[in-house]
Amino acid sequence: MENLASDHLYSRIAEEIAERIDSGLYQPGEKLPGIRVLSDKQGVSPATAVAAYRKLEADGFIEARPRSGFFVRARRSISFAEPRQTDPRTSPRPVNGQQRALQLIEASRQPHIIPLGAAVPDPSYLPSRAVERALASAARQHRVRCSGYEFGSVPELQRQVARLMAESGSRIDPNDVVITNGCQEALLLSLKLMTKAGDVVALESPTYYGLLQAVDTLGLKALEIPTDPRQGMSMEALQLALEQWPVKVCVVMPNFANPLGSCMSDERKRALLALASRYDLALIEDDIYGSLRFSGQRPSCLKTFDTEDRVFHCSSLSKTLSPGLRVGWVVSHRHREALAYQKFLLNSASPSVTQLAAAQILESGKHERHLRVLRGELGRSVARMQAMLDRHFPAGIRVTRPEGGFVLWLELPVSVDSTELAQAALQEGISIAPGALFSTTDKYHHHIRLSCAVRWSDRVERALIRLGQLIKERC
Ligand SMILES: Cc1ncc(COP(=O)(O)O)c(C=O)c1O
Repeated sequence: MENLASDHLYSRIAEEIAERIDSGLYQPGEKLPGIRVLSDKQGVSPATAVAAYRKLEADGFIEARPRSGFFVRARRSISFAEPRQTDPRTSPRPVNGQQRALQLIEASRQPHIIPLGAAVPDPSYLPSRAVERALASAARQHRVRCSGYEFGSVPELQRQVARLMAESGSRIDPNDVVITNGCQEALLLSLKLMTKAGDVVALESPTYYGLLQAVDTLGLKALEIPTDPRQGMSMEALQLALEQWPVKVCVVMPNFANPLGSCMSDERKRALLALASRYDLALIEDDIYGSLRFSGQRPSCLKTFDTEDRVFHCSSLSKTLSPGLRVGWVVSHRHREALAYQKFLLNSASPSVTQLAAAQILESGKHERHLRVLRGELGRSVARMQAMLDRHFPAGIRVTRPEGGFVLWLELPVSVDSTELAQAALQEGISIAPGALFSTTDKYHHHIRLSCAVRWSDRVERALIRLGQLIKERC
Protein backbone atom coordinates (compact mmCIF):
# COMPACT_ATOMS: atom_id res chain seq x y z
CA MET A 1 0.00 0.00 0.00
CA GLU A 2 2.82 2.34 1.06
CA ASN A 3 4.66 1.56 -2.17
CA LEU A 4 1.60 2.29 -4.20
CA ALA A 5 1.13 5.63 -2.44
CA SER A 6 4.72 6.79 -3.03
CA ASP A 7 4.56 5.45 -6.61
CA HIS A 8 1.61 7.68 -7.14
CA LEU A 9 3.21 10.66 -5.41
CA TYR A 10 6.41 10.81 -7.43
CA SER A 11 4.44 10.21 -10.66
CA ARG A 12 2.16 13.09 -9.79
CA ILE A 13 5.10 15.42 -9.09
CA ALA A 14 6.78 14.32 -12.32
CA GLU A 15 3.53 14.96 -14.18
CA GLU A 16 3.27 18.50 -12.76
CA ILE A 17 6.83 19.32 -13.80
CA ALA A 18 6.25 17.78 -17.25
CA GLU A 19 3.24 20.03 -17.68
CA ARG A 20 5.35 23.08 -16.83
CA ILE A 21 7.96 22.02 -19.37
CA ASP A 22 5.29 21.47 -22.00
CA SER A 23 3.69 24.83 -21.35
CA GLY A 24 7.06 26.60 -21.57
CA LEU A 25 7.18 27.62 -17.90
CA TYR A 26 10.48 25.76 -17.69
CA GLN A 27 12.60 26.46 -20.73
CA PRO A 28 15.06 24.09 -22.45
CA GLY A 29 18.45 24.28 -20.75
CA GLU A 30 16.96 25.72 -17.53
CA LYS A 31 18.12 24.29 -14.23
CA LEU A 32 15.35 22.72 -12.15
CA PRO A 33 15.04 23.25 -8.37
CA GLY A 34 17.45 21.11 -6.34
CA ILE A 35 16.28 17.96 -4.59
CA ARG A 36 15.99 19.64 -1.19
CA VAL A 37 14.04 22.59 -2.58
CA LEU A 38 11.69 20.30 -4.49
CA SER A 39 11.10 18.00 -1.54
CA ASP A 40 10.41 20.99 0.79
CA LYS A 41 8.10 22.61 -1.73
CA GLN A 42 6.13 19.42 -2.36
CA GLY A 43 6.26 18.23 1.26
CA VAL A 44 7.78 14.88 0.27
CA SER A 45 10.94 13.01 1.17
CA PRO A 46 14.13 13.68 -0.81
CA ALA A 47 13.88 10.09 -2.11
CA THR A 48 10.47 10.84 -3.64
CA ALA A 49 11.82 14.04 -5.22
CA VAL A 50 14.74 12.08 -6.71
CA ALA A 51 12.29 9.44 -8.00
CA ALA A 52 10.24 12.17 -9.72
CA TYR A 53 13.35 13.57 -11.42
CA ARG A 54 14.51 10.08 -12.43
CA LYS A 55 11.12 9.47 -14.00
CA LEU A 56 11.29 12.74 -15.95
CA GLU A 57 14.78 11.76 -17.05
CA ALA A 58 13.56 8.34 -18.22
CA ASP A 59 10.73 10.01 -20.11
CA GLY A 60 13.18 12.27 -21.90
CA PHE A 61 12.06 15.57 -20.34
CA ILE A 62 15.19 16.37 -18.35
CA GLU A 63 18.81 15.34 -18.01
CA ALA A 64 21.08 14.96 -15.00
CA ARG A 65 24.43 16.75 -15.26
CA PRO A 66 27.11 15.39 -12.91
CA ARG A 67 27.52 17.60 -9.84
CA SER A 68 25.29 20.31 -11.36
CA GLY A 69 21.75 19.01 -10.97
CA PHE A 70 18.80 18.41 -13.30
CA PHE A 71 18.20 20.45 -16.47
CA VAL A 72 15.35 20.65 -18.98
CA ARG A 73 16.42 18.85 -22.14
CA ALA A 74 16.84 20.98 -25.23
CA ARG A 75 14.35 18.86 -27.15
CA ARG A 76 12.86 15.55 -26.40
CA SER A 77 14.83 13.85 -29.08
CA ILE A 78 13.49 10.76 -30.74
CA SER A 79 16.14 8.95 -32.65
CA PHE A 80 13.84 6.54 -34.49
CA ALA A 81 13.04 7.16 -38.13
CA GLU A 82 9.40 7.28 -39.18
CA PRO A 83 7.80 4.57 -41.30
CA ARG A 84 7.66 5.38 -45.01
CA GLN A 85 4.50 5.66 -47.10
CA THR A 86 2.94 2.21 -47.21
CA ASP A 87 2.86 0.18 -50.41
CA PRO A 88 0.20 -2.53 -50.12
CA ARG A 89 0.26 -3.32 -53.88
CA THR A 90 -2.91 -5.29 -53.84
CA SER A 91 -6.16 -5.83 -55.67
CA PRO A 92 -9.60 -5.80 -54.03
CA ARG A 93 -9.92 -8.77 -51.72
CA PRO A 94 -12.22 -10.16 -49.04
CA VAL A 95 -11.27 -9.82 -45.39
CA ASN A 96 -10.16 -12.87 -43.37
CA GLY A 97 -8.93 -13.71 -39.91
CA GLN A 98 -10.50 -10.81 -38.05
CA GLN A 99 -11.77 -13.07 -35.23
CA ARG A 100 -8.32 -12.68 -33.70
CA ALA A 101 -9.14 -9.07 -32.92
CA LEU A 102 -11.76 -10.21 -30.42
CA GLN A 103 -9.14 -12.19 -28.49
CA LEU A 104 -7.07 -9.05 -28.31
CA ILE A 105 -9.94 -7.01 -26.93
CA GLU A 106 -10.83 -9.74 -24.43
CA ALA A 107 -7.22 -9.97 -23.28
CA SER A 108 -6.90 -6.26 -22.73
CA ARG A 109 -9.91 -6.30 -20.40
CA GLN A 110 -8.31 -8.68 -17.94
CA PRO A 111 -6.98 -6.77 -14.93
CA HIS A 112 -3.60 -8.52 -14.80
CA ILE A 113 -2.81 -7.68 -18.43
CA ILE A 114 -0.98 -4.47 -19.41
CA PRO A 115 -3.31 -3.26 -22.16
CA LEU A 116 -1.04 -1.82 -24.86
CA GLY A 117 -3.07 -3.54 -27.57
CA ALA A 118 -6.56 -2.07 -27.70
CA ALA A 119 -7.02 1.61 -28.57
CA VAL A 120 -9.15 2.23 -25.51
CA PRO A 121 -8.16 4.99 -23.09
CA ASP A 122 -7.59 3.86 -19.53
CA PRO A 123 -10.55 5.04 -17.36
CA SER A 124 -8.18 7.45 -15.58
CA TYR A 125 -8.20 9.57 -18.79
CA LEU A 126 -11.98 9.81 -18.84
CA PRO A 127 -14.41 11.81 -16.67
CA SER A 128 -16.22 8.79 -15.27
CA ARG A 129 -17.75 10.66 -12.30
CA ALA A 130 -19.35 13.22 -14.61
CA VAL A 131 -20.74 10.40 -16.75
CA GLU A 132 -22.13 8.60 -13.69
CA ARG A 133 -23.83 11.77 -12.48
CA ALA A 134 -25.25 12.60 -15.89
CA LEU A 135 -26.66 9.07 -16.24
CA ALA A 136 -28.35 9.26 -12.84
CA SER A 137 -29.75 12.72 -13.51
CA ALA A 138 -31.00 11.78 -17.00
CA ALA A 139 -32.77 8.73 -15.59
CA ARG A 140 -34.37 10.87 -12.85
CA GLN A 141 -35.39 13.82 -15.00
CA HIS A 142 -36.69 11.83 -17.97
CA ARG A 143 -38.25 8.78 -16.32
CA VAL A 144 -40.90 8.24 -18.97
CA ARG A 145 -38.63 8.78 -21.96
CA CYS A 146 -35.94 6.54 -20.51
CA SER A 147 -38.23 3.63 -19.77
CA GLY A 148 -40.33 3.62 -22.94
CA TYR A 149 -39.53 3.38 -26.62
CA GLU A 150 -38.07 6.54 -28.09
CA PHE A 151 -37.57 5.82 -31.76
CA GLY A 152 -35.13 7.88 -33.74
CA SER A 153 -32.41 10.02 -32.24
CA VAL A 154 -32.81 12.13 -29.11
CA PRO A 155 -33.18 15.75 -30.33
CA GLU A 156 -31.16 17.22 -27.44
CA LEU A 157 -28.17 15.13 -28.53
CA GLN A 158 -28.66 15.88 -32.22
CA ARG A 159 -28.42 19.58 -31.34
CA GLN A 160 -25.29 19.08 -29.27
CA VAL A 161 -23.61 17.09 -32.05
CA ALA A 162 -24.45 19.88 -34.50
CA ARG A 163 -22.93 22.40 -32.05
CA LEU A 164 -19.81 20.26 -31.66
CA MET A 165 -19.44 20.15 -35.41
CA ALA A 166 -20.00 23.88 -35.76
CA GLU A 167 -17.05 24.41 -33.42
CA SER A 168 -14.89 22.44 -35.84
CA GLY A 169 -16.14 24.47 -38.79
CA SER A 170 -18.99 22.28 -40.16
CA ARG A 171 -22.43 23.82 -40.31
CA ILE A 172 -25.00 21.04 -40.30
CA ASP A 173 -28.71 20.69 -39.61
CA PRO A 174 -29.29 18.83 -36.29
CA ASN A 175 -31.92 16.73 -38.13
CA ASP A 176 -29.12 15.27 -40.27
CA VAL A 177 -27.58 13.59 -37.22
CA VAL A 178 -28.45 9.93 -36.73
CA ILE A 179 -27.39 8.69 -33.31
CA THR A 180 -25.79 5.24 -33.31
CA ASN A 181 -24.28 2.74 -30.88
CA GLY A 182 -20.77 4.11 -31.23
CA CYS A 183 -18.77 4.99 -34.29
CA GLN A 184 -18.59 1.34 -35.30
CA GLU A 185 -22.32 1.24 -35.95
CA ALA A 186 -22.13 4.56 -37.79
CA LEU A 187 -19.51 3.10 -40.15
CA LEU A 188 -21.50 -0.09 -40.61
CA LEU A 189 -24.77 1.71 -41.40
CA SER A 190 -23.09 4.02 -43.90
CA LEU A 191 -21.30 1.17 -45.65
CA LYS A 192 -24.45 -0.94 -45.69
CA LEU A 193 -26.43 1.83 -47.28
CA MET A 194 -23.98 2.50 -50.08
CA THR A 195 -22.92 -1.04 -51.06
CA LYS A 196 -24.08 -4.54 -51.86
CA ALA A 197 -22.11 -7.77 -51.37
CA GLY A 198 -19.08 -8.01 -53.67
CA ASP A 199 -18.61 -4.22 -54.02
CA VAL A 200 -15.17 -2.67 -53.66
CA VAL A 201 -14.33 -0.29 -50.81
CA ALA A 202 -11.13 1.76 -50.81
CA LEU A 203 -9.42 2.23 -47.46
CA GLU A 204 -6.15 3.39 -45.96
CA SER A 205 -3.44 0.78 -45.58
CA PRO A 206 -3.05 -0.14 -42.75
CA THR A 207 -6.50 0.59 -41.38
CA TYR A 208 -8.60 0.22 -38.24
CA TYR A 209 -9.52 -3.44 -37.85
CA GLY A 210 -13.14 -2.66 -36.90
CA LEU A 211 -13.54 -1.26 -40.38
CA LEU A 212 -12.17 -4.46 -41.90
CA GLN A 213 -14.69 -6.36 -39.78
CA ALA A 214 -17.54 -4.23 -41.16
CA VAL A 215 -16.26 -4.88 -44.70
CA ASP A 216 -16.17 -8.59 -43.86
CA THR A 217 -19.69 -8.70 -42.38
CA LEU A 218 -21.15 -7.02 -45.45
CA GLY A 219 -19.33 -9.34 -47.87
CA LEU A 220 -17.43 -6.44 -49.48
CA LYS A 221 -13.94 -6.38 -50.92
CA ALA A 222 -11.25 -4.16 -49.44
CA LEU A 223 -8.89 -2.25 -51.68
CA GLU A 224 -5.99 -0.92 -49.65
CA ILE A 225 -4.51 2.38 -50.76
CA PRO A 226 -0.91 3.50 -50.00
CA THR A 227 -0.92 5.85 -47.04
CA ASP A 228 1.67 8.21 -45.64
CA PRO A 229 2.13 8.14 -41.85
CA ARG A 230 2.01 11.95 -41.75
CA GLN A 231 -0.19 13.04 -44.62
CA GLY A 232 -2.67 10.22 -44.88
CA MET A 233 -4.03 8.40 -47.90
CA SER A 234 -2.10 9.07 -51.12
CA MET A 235 -4.38 10.91 -53.52
CA GLU A 236 -2.22 9.86 -56.48
CA ALA A 237 -2.57 6.20 -55.51
CA LEU A 238 -6.30 6.60 -54.93
CA GLN A 239 -6.72 8.13 -58.37
CA LEU A 240 -4.86 5.21 -59.96
CA ALA A 241 -7.06 2.78 -58.05
CA LEU A 242 -10.22 4.59 -59.17
CA GLU A 243 -9.08 4.36 -62.78
CA GLN A 244 -8.51 0.64 -62.41
CA TRP A 245 -11.26 -0.67 -60.10
CA PRO A 246 -15.01 -0.09 -59.70
CA VAL A 247 -14.73 1.46 -56.24
CA LYS A 248 -18.09 2.26 -54.65
CA VAL A 249 -17.04 3.93 -51.43
CA CYS A 250 -13.87 5.26 -49.90
CA VAL A 251 -13.52 5.19 -46.11
CA VAL A 252 -10.93 7.51 -44.59
CA MET A 253 -9.75 8.66 -41.20
CA PRO A 254 -8.58 12.15 -42.21
CA ASN A 255 -7.61 13.20 -38.67
CA PHE A 256 -5.17 11.12 -36.60
CA ALA A 257 -5.89 7.85 -38.31
CA ASN A 258 -5.75 4.56 -36.47
CA PRO A 259 -3.11 3.07 -36.55
CA LEU A 260 -0.84 5.46 -38.51
CA GLY A 261 -1.74 8.70 -36.75
CA SER A 262 -1.70 10.56 -40.07
CA CYS A 263 -3.57 13.85 -40.52
CA MET A 264 -4.58 15.11 -43.95
CA SER A 265 -4.05 18.79 -44.71
CA ASP A 266 -7.08 20.85 -45.78
CA GLU A 267 -5.64 20.85 -49.28
CA ARG A 268 -5.62 17.06 -49.37
CA LYS A 269 -9.12 16.92 -47.96
CA ARG A 270 -10.26 19.16 -50.81
CA ALA A 271 -8.36 17.02 -53.32
CA LEU A 272 -10.13 13.93 -51.98
CA LEU A 273 -13.53 15.59 -52.41
CA ALA A 274 -12.61 16.63 -55.95
CA LEU A 275 -11.64 13.04 -56.80
CA ALA A 276 -14.84 11.73 -55.26
CA SER A 277 -16.81 14.17 -57.36
CA ARG A 278 -15.01 13.15 -60.55
CA TYR A 279 -15.55 9.41 -59.95
CA ASP A 280 -18.94 9.77 -58.26
CA LEU A 281 -17.67 8.14 -55.13
CA ALA A 282 -19.27 8.15 -51.68
CA LEU A 283 -16.94 9.09 -48.84
CA ILE A 284 -17.19 7.82 -45.29
CA GLU A 285 -15.22 9.92 -42.83
CA ASP A 286 -14.24 8.37 -39.50
CA ASP A 287 -13.39 11.38 -37.31
CA ILE A 288 -13.30 9.64 -33.93
CA TYR A 289 -9.83 11.04 -33.08
CA GLY A 290 -10.39 14.46 -34.69
CA SER A 291 -10.71 16.39 -31.43
CA LEU A 292 -7.59 14.83 -29.91
CA ARG A 293 -4.84 17.06 -31.31
CA PHE A 294 -2.25 17.42 -28.52
CA SER A 295 -2.00 21.18 -28.90
CA GLY A 296 -3.27 23.92 -31.16
CA GLN A 297 -6.47 24.04 -33.13
CA ARG A 298 -8.51 21.00 -34.01
CA PRO A 299 -8.06 19.96 -37.66
CA SER A 300 -11.07 20.43 -39.95
CA CYS A 301 -13.38 17.58 -40.79
CA LEU A 302 -13.72 16.42 -44.37
CA LYS A 303 -17.41 17.26 -43.96
CA THR A 304 -16.48 20.96 -43.62
CA PHE A 305 -15.54 21.10 -47.32
CA ASP A 306 -18.33 18.81 -48.51
CA THR A 307 -20.35 21.07 -50.82
CA GLU A 308 -21.92 18.11 -52.70
CA ASP A 309 -23.17 16.22 -49.62
CA ARG A 310 -21.03 13.16 -50.40
CA VAL A 311 -19.54 12.62 -46.97
CA PHE A 312 -20.98 10.38 -44.29
CA HIS A 313 -19.39 11.91 -41.21
CA CYS A 314 -19.00 9.28 -38.45
CA SER A 315 -17.75 9.80 -34.92
CA SER A 316 -18.47 9.07 -31.27
CA LEU A 317 -17.69 9.96 -27.68
CA SER A 318 -15.82 6.70 -27.07
CA LYS A 319 -12.33 8.20 -27.03
CA THR A 320 -13.11 11.40 -25.16
CA LEU A 321 -15.92 10.61 -22.71
CA SER A 322 -16.83 6.96 -22.33
CA PRO A 323 -16.65 3.95 -24.66
CA GLY A 324 -19.26 2.26 -22.46
CA LEU A 325 -21.92 4.87 -23.22
CA ARG A 326 -21.95 3.62 -26.84
CA VAL A 327 -22.90 7.04 -28.15
CA GLY A 328 -21.87 7.77 -31.72
CA TRP A 329 -23.37 9.36 -34.81
CA VAL A 330 -23.43 9.59 -38.54
CA VAL A 331 -24.20 12.83 -40.36
CA SER A 332 -25.53 13.00 -43.90
CA HIS A 333 -28.22 15.27 -45.29
CA ARG A 334 -29.10 13.32 -48.44
CA HIS A 335 -29.20 9.95 -46.70
CA ARG A 336 -30.54 10.88 -43.30
CA GLU A 337 -33.87 9.13 -43.67
CA ALA A 338 -32.36 5.99 -45.14
CA LEU A 339 -29.75 5.92 -42.35
CA ALA A 340 -32.42 6.40 -39.68
CA TYR A 341 -34.42 3.54 -41.22
CA GLN A 342 -31.36 1.26 -41.27
CA LYS A 343 -30.71 2.11 -37.65
CA PHE A 344 -34.33 1.35 -36.77
CA LEU A 345 -34.14 -2.05 -38.53
CA LEU A 346 -30.94 -2.94 -36.73
CA ASN A 347 -31.87 -2.21 -33.11
CA SER A 348 -34.83 0.20 -33.02
CA ALA A 349 -32.86 3.01 -31.38
CA SER A 350 -29.93 3.72 -29.09
CA PRO A 351 -30.92 3.85 -25.40
CA SER A 352 -32.47 7.21 -24.48
CA VAL A 353 -30.76 7.40 -21.11
CA THR A 354 -27.24 7.34 -22.56
CA GLN A 355 -28.16 9.82 -25.28
CA LEU A 356 -29.68 12.21 -22.74
CA ALA A 357 -26.68 11.87 -20.42
CA ALA A 358 -24.29 12.57 -23.30
CA ALA A 359 -26.35 15.61 -24.33
CA GLN A 360 -26.20 16.94 -20.76
CA ILE A 361 -22.43 16.61 -20.55
CA LEU A 362 -21.94 18.28 -23.91
CA GLU A 363 -24.33 21.10 -23.05
CA SER A 364 -22.78 21.77 -19.65
CA GLY A 365 -19.36 22.43 -21.22
CA LYS A 366 -17.82 19.58 -19.18
CA HIS A 367 -16.83 17.67 -22.30
CA GLU A 368 -15.05 20.69 -23.73
CA ARG A 369 -13.23 21.40 -20.46
CA HIS A 370 -12.26 17.76 -20.18
CA LEU A 371 -10.95 17.74 -23.74
CA ARG A 372 -8.62 20.61 -22.98
CA VAL A 373 -6.92 18.58 -20.25
CA LEU A 374 -7.13 15.26 -22.07
CA ARG A 375 -5.33 16.48 -25.20
CA GLY A 376 -2.30 17.59 -23.19
CA GLU A 377 -2.30 14.36 -21.19
CA LEU A 378 -2.39 12.23 -24.32
CA GLY A 379 0.42 14.27 -25.88
CA ARG A 380 2.55 13.61 -22.82
CA SER A 381 1.65 9.92 -22.77
CA VAL A 382 2.65 9.54 -26.40
CA ALA A 383 5.93 11.42 -25.78
CA ARG A 384 6.63 9.24 -22.76
CA MET A 385 6.01 6.08 -24.75
CA GLN A 386 8.29 7.34 -27.55
CA ALA A 387 11.03 8.07 -25.00
CA MET A 388 10.65 4.57 -23.52
CA LEU A 389 10.88 3.00 -26.96
CA ASP A 390 13.95 5.09 -27.68
CA ARG A 391 15.65 3.73 -24.59
CA HIS A 392 14.56 0.14 -24.59
CA PHE A 393 13.72 -0.96 -28.12
CA PRO A 394 16.33 -2.03 -30.68
CA ALA A 395 17.83 0.64 -32.93
CA GLY A 396 16.61 0.51 -36.51
CA ILE A 397 12.91 0.19 -35.80
CA ARG A 398 10.60 2.88 -37.20
CA VAL A 399 8.02 4.67 -35.09
CA THR A 400 5.27 7.13 -36.08
CA ARG A 401 5.13 10.68 -34.68
CA PRO A 402 1.44 11.52 -34.49
CA GLU A 403 0.26 14.97 -33.45
CA GLY A 404 -2.97 13.65 -32.02
CA GLY A 405 -4.78 10.50 -30.91
CA PHE A 406 -2.94 8.04 -28.71
CA VAL A 407 -1.54 5.15 -30.72
CA LEU A 408 1.91 4.48 -32.16
CA TRP A 409 2.65 2.27 -35.14
CA LEU A 410 5.99 0.48 -35.08
CA GLU A 411 7.82 -1.13 -37.95
CA LEU A 412 10.08 -3.84 -36.51
CA PRO A 413 12.84 -5.75 -38.30
CA VAL A 414 11.34 -8.13 -40.91
CA SER A 415 12.58 -11.11 -38.93
CA VAL A 416 10.02 -10.36 -36.19
CA ASP A 417 6.70 -12.13 -36.69
CA SER A 418 4.46 -9.76 -34.74
CA THR A 419 1.62 -12.27 -34.35
CA GLU A 420 4.00 -14.67 -32.64
CA LEU A 421 5.48 -11.75 -30.67
CA ALA A 422 1.98 -10.77 -29.50
CA GLN A 423 1.38 -14.31 -28.26
CA ALA A 424 4.72 -14.42 -26.43
CA ALA A 425 4.00 -11.00 -24.88
CA LEU A 426 0.54 -12.12 -23.77
CA GLN A 427 2.10 -15.08 -21.95
CA GLU A 428 3.96 -12.46 -19.93
CA GLY A 429 0.87 -10.36 -19.26
CA ILE A 430 1.38 -7.74 -22.00
CA SER A 431 -1.15 -7.19 -24.76
CA ILE A 432 -0.08 -5.59 -28.07
CA ALA A 433 -1.85 -5.38 -31.43
CA PRO A 434 -0.04 -7.30 -34.20
CA GLY A 435 0.16 -5.65 -37.63
CA ALA A 436 -1.70 -8.44 -39.44
CA LEU A 437 -4.97 -7.26 -37.87
CA PHE A 438 -4.83 -3.96 -39.75
CA SER A 439 -4.72 -5.28 -43.30
CA THR A 440 -5.94 -7.93 -45.71
CA THR A 441 -2.34 -8.30 -46.94
CA ASP A 442 0.69 -9.79 -45.20
CA LYS A 443 2.60 -6.50 -45.49
CA TYR A 444 2.47 -5.70 -41.82
CA HIS A 445 3.50 -9.01 -40.29
CA HIS A 446 6.45 -7.22 -38.64
CA HIS A 447 4.50 -4.22 -37.36
CA ILE A 448 2.72 -3.58 -34.09
CA ARG A 449 0.41 -0.91 -32.72
CA LEU A 450 0.81 0.32 -29.16
CA SER A 451 -1.75 2.31 -27.23
CA CYS A 452 -0.21 5.07 -25.11
CA ALA A 453 -3.37 5.93 -23.13
CA VAL A 454 -2.43 3.57 -20.34
CA ARG A 455 -2.18 4.46 -16.69
CA TRP A 456 1.56 4.95 -16.30
CA SER A 457 3.20 2.98 -13.55
CA ASP A 458 6.38 1.03 -12.88
CA ARG A 459 4.49 -2.05 -14.09
CA VAL A 460 3.88 -0.45 -17.48
CA GLU A 461 7.51 0.61 -17.73
CA ARG A 462 8.70 -2.86 -16.83
CA ALA A 463 6.33 -4.27 -19.46
CA LEU A 464 7.80 -1.98 -22.12
CA ILE A 465 11.36 -2.95 -21.16
CA ARG A 466 10.37 -6.62 -21.41
CA LEU A 467 8.68 -6.04 -24.76
CA GLY A 468 11.88 -4.43 -26.03
CA GLN A 469 13.80 -7.54 -24.91
CA LEU A 470 11.32 -9.87 -26.62
CA ILE A 471 11.81 -7.92 -29.86
CA LYS A 472 15.60 -7.93 -29.53
CA GLU A 473 15.51 -11.72 -29.05
CA ARG A 474 13.73 -11.98 -32.42
CA CYS A 475 15.95 -9.60 -34.40
C1 LIG B 1 -10.76 4.57 -35.94
C2 LIG B 1 -11.85 4.02 -35.10
N1 LIG B 1 -13.10 4.06 -35.54
C3 LIG B 1 -14.12 3.56 -34.83
C4 LIG B 1 -13.91 2.98 -33.60
C5 LIG B 1 -15.10 2.40 -32.87
O1 LIG B 1 -15.58 3.33 -31.98
P1 LIG B 1 -16.85 3.09 -31.05
O2 LIG B 1 -16.34 2.45 -29.80
O3 LIG B 1 -17.40 4.45 -30.82
O4 LIG B 1 -17.79 2.21 -31.78
C6 LIG B 1 -12.62 2.92 -33.08
C7 LIG B 1 -12.36 2.30 -31.79
O5 LIG B 1 -11.29 1.84 -31.49
C8 LIG B 1 -11.56 3.46 -33.85
O6 LIG B 1 -10.30 3.43 -33.42
